[in-house]
Amino acid sequence: MNDLDSLVGAAQQSFAASGTPADLENAKAQFLGKSGRMTELMKGMAQLSPDEKKSRGAAINLAKQAIEAALTARRQALADAELNAQLHAEALDVTLPGRQRGQGGLHPVSLTLERIESIFGSMGFEVADGPEIETDWFNFTALNTPEDHPARSMHDTFYLEGGSEHAPHLLRTHTSPMQIRHAIAHVKRHRAAIDAGQPMPEIRVIAPGRTYRVDSDATHSPMFHQCEGLWIGENVSFKDLKYIFTAFCRTFFETDDLVLRFRPSFFPFTEPSAEIDIQFPSGPLAGRWLEVAGSGQVHPNVVRNMGLDPERFIGFAFGMGFDRLTMLRYGVNDLRLFFDGDIRFLSQFQ
Ligand code: DAH
Repeated sequence: MNDLDSLVGAAQQSFAASGTPADLENAKAQFLGKSGRMTELMKGMAQLSPDEKKSRGAAINLAKQAIEAALTARRQALADAELNAQLHAEALDVTLPGRQRGQGGLHPVSLTLERIESIFGSMGFEVADGPEIETDWFNFTALNTPEDHPARSMHDTFYLEGGSEHAPHLLRTHTSPMQIRHAIAHVKRHRAAIDAGQPMPEIRVIAPGRTYRVDSDATHSPMFHQCEGLWIGENVSFKDLKYIFTAFCRTFFETDDLVLRFRPSFFPFTEPSAEIDIQFPSGPLAGRWLEVAGSGQVHPNVVRNMGLDPERFIGFAFGMGFDRLTMLRYGVNDLRLFFDGDIRFLSQFQ
């Protein structure tokens, strides 16, 4: 082995023995630095003849290249090792499940609302929306409710400041004022045709929303939800009400065995009037009559307040509390759970 080969071998060994970049730079100085061994060799060339210089110079160059290559390789190896060590230290376990954000969902009463809208929608009913702050005229007077009716008392109704003595403002106690609001708007659009004795497109609408009464216990909340239904035409009868409402209940509760009962009752805005009760053939509520809605044939005075002639137009209306339907559907026995906002309760309906 000549002196150059052993110098290259010594450099390779020294580089390999350098465990850190700083050690490696020190080792480099020993071989390639200004006073390093390579520089010494170059200096030794001064005494050589031109021919010897040529061959010696070429050999030294090769040796220098080999040492530089070894240096570069070792630098890279140390850098790789450092990166690996760092990656190892900061290792992520990518198999751990991620932290998820809680996913929101619809409130059970909203689920019922969507269901009601889609079922009545499939039977050709529009969906209407209206104000929760009402005047006494829409909430009571237009619905044929007499001045001394108990529902009008402060005991039952939340009155608001701001209206006048003759037109008090209140939180609507039911969705029935939407019958009047919707019908008046509908009739206005078709006034000319109606007056000319031409057919009027039937009014077929539901109006779901929040309603308010001075009442609070396990089955009553001061804020609750109702859905009004109204179907007015020239040839709409009680049997249509029975058919529509039965179809609705059976679809809603997903059972054809559901039994309905129309129990005679009284409401100022309908004549005749009926409470609608349902009975499940099986399950925990089997055999019990459960009241789900009030209904009836729209009273002639109310038809008149809609701007229509009661001799020509007739129809039915109903109003159902759909918090109750939600309780029945999901087997919930305390209405207040719906409005307490407890996420443990609500998340069960996802
Ligand atoms: N508005 C009534 C209530 O809140 C329910 C009702 C009864 C609505 C008969 C109607 C109806 O449309 O025809 O108790």
